[in-house]
Amino acid sequence: MKIRKAVIPAAGLGTRMLPATKTVPKEMLPLVDKPVIQYIIEEAVASGIEDILIVTNRAKSAMDDYFDYYPELEHTLLRTGKDDMAHVVRGVADMANIFYVRQKETHGLGHAVCRARRFVGDEPFAVLLGDDVMMYEKPVLRQLIDAAEKFSGSAIGVQQVSDQAISSYSSVKMRPLEGRVYDVLDLNEKPTQEEKFSNYAVLGRYILTPDIFDILEKTPAGRNGEIQLTDGLAQLCKTNRMLAVDFEGRRYDTGNLKGFLEATVDFALQTPDVGPWLRDFIKEKAESL
Ligand code: UTP
Repeated sequence: MKIRKAVIPAAGLGTRMLPATKTVPKEMLPLVDKPVIQYIIEEAVASGIEDILIVTNRAKSAMDDYFDYYPELEHTLLRTGKDDMAHVVRGVADMANIFYVRQKETHGLGHAVCRARRFVGDEPFAVLLGDDVMMYEKPVLRQLIDAAEKFSGSAIGVQQVSDQAISSYSSVKMRPLEGRVYDVLDLNEKPTQEEKFSNYAVLGRYILTPDIFDILEKTPAGRNGEIQLTDGLAQLCKTNRMLAVDFEGRRYDTGNLKGFLEATVDFALQTPDVGPWLRDFIKEKAESL
């Protein structure tokens, strides 16, 4: 099974990043010189994805604009000798076939994924959360696709988190299969210490089969009146094979301030133009503390 399509749910309200996200979508906040969503689309493209659907809402049209052409800007850049930047600006719009659908009411991640039903049709597809940025040489999504293809199942990206952190995530019950790949037996959302299955948390990347849509459409709203993707996954793994991939790489939750700042510093340190300068600046600051 070849996975060609990806869905990026990006219709959340971003309340943890207010007031910045009142009018700027959190997916459009810059990590050094690119918006968050561009890193996610680059990961999808590097993993072999051709068509991408972004689930947006009425406050997020800056994303559609960003992936469009901007002829006046490009002409000005070319006229003033900034050809390299003109190509960068044009390249952003040509990265992939990008489609959009609106989630008209904010009813949770499961509800957002359901908006993709017509786009997905009858083939397995990837989901990348719009605020989870992953960094590794081998794209994290590709690691999931390889497992899903090899063992013919859906797949979720997991990593171990602390006792304290697991109650903010979905915890996974799983059995070793091969290397970093496990069979998923069950999941639960935001468990207490007594309820958790393990400290393996689901982190922002999924390969799903279209069976998930029927399940989600019948899933009642859970916590905060939202339809939880985890509730749907817990059902899917009972009837279809689901794999957990303990992926290699670092995950940044850019939807909260600390994760956003960690990503900003790490990525800036790796950027040739500003990395060496930032290193000196941080050293100087640290010495004066
Ligand atoms: P989050 O819970 O991280 O995003 O949802 P949020 O709702 O924007 O966060 P806060 O708590 O208000 O800051 C995980 C992913 O699901 C998407 C979000 O955009 C994010 O990528 N999402 C969430 C939707 O697309 N629709 C929803 O109704 C809820």
